[in-house]
Amino acid sequence: MKLILLGPPGAGKGTQAANIVKEFAIPHISTGDIFRKNIKEGTELGVKAKSFIDSGKLVPDSLVCEIVEDRLSEEDCKEGFLLDGFPRTVFQAESLDKFLNENGKTLNKVVNIKVDPDLLVERAVGRRICKSCGATYHIKYNPSKVEGVCDLCDGELYQRSDDVAETVENRIKVYIDETSPLIDYYTKKEILIDIDGQQDIDKVYKDISVALKG
Ligand code: AP5
Ligand code: MG
Ligand code: ZN
Repeated sequence: MKLILLGPPGAGKGTQAANIVKEFAIPHISTGDIFRKNIKEGTELGVKAKSFIDSGKLVPDSLVCEIVEDRLSEEDCKEGFLLDGFPRTVFQAESLDKFLNENGKTLNKVVNIKVDPDLLVERAVGRRICKSCGATYHIKYNPSKVEGVCDLCDGELYQRSDDVAETVENRIKVYIDETSPLIDYYTKKEILIDIDGQQDIDKVYKDISVALKG
């Protein structure tokens, strides 16, 4: 299964990705996670990406496409993959199509998680992530059993540097301007599935699972 997860910041892409990759046994490729890992490790890519991410802008296409192509060329992506947060511009989508074409592959589905923009800031600002295993929580909608501690591995929970209200608002604007045209792009290819992301986390996943198997 070759899949893309589309949706605005805080829509629940990362949350649902964890379920999808478990059920369909495919690798989870999040460009945001790749950048954050590089920032943490202080690599050249991390240094270049940091200022864009912290201001809520997109990292330039020239830095993104090659990383994804390298990752998709790895052995574990042969049978399938789940892209989360990529593509994010029409340029990235066209470049992905070209890459997949050249490698004799086609996308199966694009899962579009729809959430009202008014709800997104609260979702992102209340998000907490495990430093050790990356599990995602929300202080109100999906709290850990012990505040600040991961249920799965006892790791410490932290808040992303771009999860402050002003930056989240910028990210939403950037999504509307630069990423939302992809809804049309994949609708025309007849592979887009719309999912109501304003239900409980479990119900959102049920809908995704049914749609992917249908
Ligand atoms: P990235 O890390 O991809 O961030 P994003 O797209 O802004 O999305 P988020 O990770 O914030 O949200 P999510 O949809 O994963 O939501 P989550 O499941 O965590 O990118 C970060 C930055 O990197 C970008 O701004 C850009 O600078 C750069 N970048 C990345 N990719 C790029 C690319 N391709 N090109 C250029 N630049 C790129 O859920 C959010 C919260 O809500 C959580 O707390 C969760 O518990 C809660 N929640 C989830 N579902 C529900 C529900 N159904 N009900 C209630 N609460 C819920
Ligand atoms: Mg995410
Ligand atoms: Zn953990």
